[in-house]
Amino acid sequence: MPSDLSPIDKAKFVAAKRAAQMVERGMRVGLGTGSTAVWLVRCLGEMVREGGLDFKAVPTSSQTAALAREVGIDVITLEEAKWLDLTIDGADEFDGQFDLIKGGGGAHLQEKIVATASDRMVVIADAGKAVETLGAFPLPVEVIPFGWQATQALVEETLTSMDVLGRETVLRLKGDAPFRTDEGNHILDLHLKRIGNARQLAVALNQIPGVVENGLFIGICDQVIVGYGDGRTEVRDVDKGTIETGRLEFVESDNLFADLSD
Ligand code: 5RP
Repeated sequence: MPSDLSPIDKAKFVAAKRAAQMVERGMRVGLGTGSTAVWLVRCLGEMVREGGLDFKAVPTSSQTAALAREVGIDVITLEEAKWLDLTIDGADEFDGQFDLIKGGGGAHLQEKIVATASDRMVVIADAGKAVETLGAFPLPVEVIPFGWQATQALVEETLTSMDVLGRETVLRLKGDAPFRTDEGNHILDLHLKRIGNARQLAVALNQIPGVVENGLFIGICDQVIVGYGDGRTEVRDVDKGTIETGRLEFVESDNLFADLSD
């Protein structure tokens, strides 16, 4: 039941629910990955099933695709959509310019492709994701498995000339084995602590052979919807410099919350 949710989950839920209200009939919408995006997909599924909302979705991971189909959303490929009206996704960190770190769930490659193929990217997040300077969250970098140790060495060499506080790089594991992305690649998590120049770092990392994509989203996000545990929401717009506040009730809907106790 929603009353059993932690304040962070409530914050994620209201941010997602507010974002779902931005989806209109006929739109092509990118659906992000992660726990906040799960709420979004559930809210949109309910709007499809009970409100007759008719839209097409391009998921950013196999998990999101499976959930979207399960809740009744019409899923298409990016190839079929060609271009998207809107992408809604979570983030691991966002700063005052709405630059992001993403990839905590290992899906940042597809997430970046989908977000940049959209007219608008809206990030949904609890207030704890807001930072002055990016970098406390380890920066995910997707690398090709072939020769990944050589790629890691080049990443570390590149970091020596970058404005960062930490330089430790760690291969992400799932159990005892290297984590695999949907594309079958590995992830290096870069423990940088503080990133002084995120744009420069993003460009430098993507020039290293073996690096597929890094988790820095620079100048891609247009709006951030911040959720709070008491139901408050803020829609922050980077271009307009506006903050629209609101509040959402926790409606105890069996459809949305039924499987939480499974
Ligand atoms: C997945 C992501 C997620 O959006 C990010 O990790 C945030 O996840 P959550 O909503 O679970 O906090 O980038 O690759």
